[in-house]
Amino acid sequence: MSFENQVAVISGAASGMGLLCARLLAADGARVVLADVDSGAVEAAAAEIRSGGGEAVGIPVDVRNYGQIEHVVDTALARYGAIDMLLNFAGGAESRMRNCSAPFHEMPLEVIDWGLDVNLKGVVYFCRAVLGSMIRRKRGVIITLGSVTGVEGSAGAVNYSAAKSGIIGLTKALALCGAPYNVRACCVSPGPVLTRPGMAEMKTRLGRAAEPREVVDLVLYLCSDKAAFITGSNYLIDGGRTCGGI
Ligand SMILES: NC(=O)c1ccc[n+]([C@@H]2O[C@H](COP(=O)([O-])OP(=O)(O)OC[C@H]3O[C@@H](n4cnc5c(N)ncnc54)[C@H](O)[C@@H]3O)[C@@H](O)[C@H]2O)c1
Repeated sequence: MSFENQVAVISGAASGMGLLCARLLAADGARVVLADVDSGAVEAAAAEIRSGGGEAVGIPVDVRNYGQIEHVVDTALARYGAIDMLLNFAGGAESRMRNCSAPFHEMPLEVIDWGLDVNLKGVVYFCRAVLGSMIRRKRGVIITLGSVTGVEGSAGAVNYSAAKSGIIGLTKALALCGAPYNVRACCVSPGPVLTRPGMAEMKTRLGRAAEPREVVDLVLYLCSDKAAFITGSNYLIDGGRTCGGI
């Protein structure tokens, strides 16, 4: 798969799978726009890619803020002329990200709002901001990150389940909007991924969590021209967890 001279905008690119994806795309010749709320880390990540000979820019963004997303999109278009790929990695369970262990019915509303705003509305915002340029160019791929939690539900992550389930519907609707214009949209829904050690505890049929690279390789395949006939699909990559019986 070559991404030579293609332009990728990647949210959540300061760490985890978003950062790995940015590094691999840049190594394959793409020009990458890294966007993340962690301004120091996202600028450092882009600088590291540049120092390795890649083309990258890091831009701070809070995906809850549409104006900041527009700034990322405008910068990408002004700098590189087009956006071929939008990869929405920004997100995470609010219980972890907001350090809140309360059950759903006692969860503070500001934690609920943070989770829905980052995991669902932020993705809706980013897709809305990028889709027009892809439709006008009759070319583009949008990748969203769901989760097994959005398919099977989780009593410990009610809000996150709702947001990630919503991502699957969003992706199907984007696929319908984009199909007449050669714009594809695909959702990747991982089970546990070892971007943090705690995920090793989550059960799968294969008896382990995924390496980040295993998930990112699927994302890159879906972005590539090899996946030109794939749109609107949700790909579970979960070590068989959703086969049931766990
Ligand atoms: N790790 C897993 O086991 C797992 C499983 C299923 C789904 N996912 C999903 O995959 C995606 C990436 O996960 P990861 O494990 O690489 O996570 P990660 O925590 O390493 O990366 C998430 C990134 O999102 C950024 N972010 C958080 N809030 C933001 C905001 N308001 N605006 C912009 N950026 C923001 C963070 O700063 C961070 O760099 C997430 O959407 C997550 O929900 C992860």
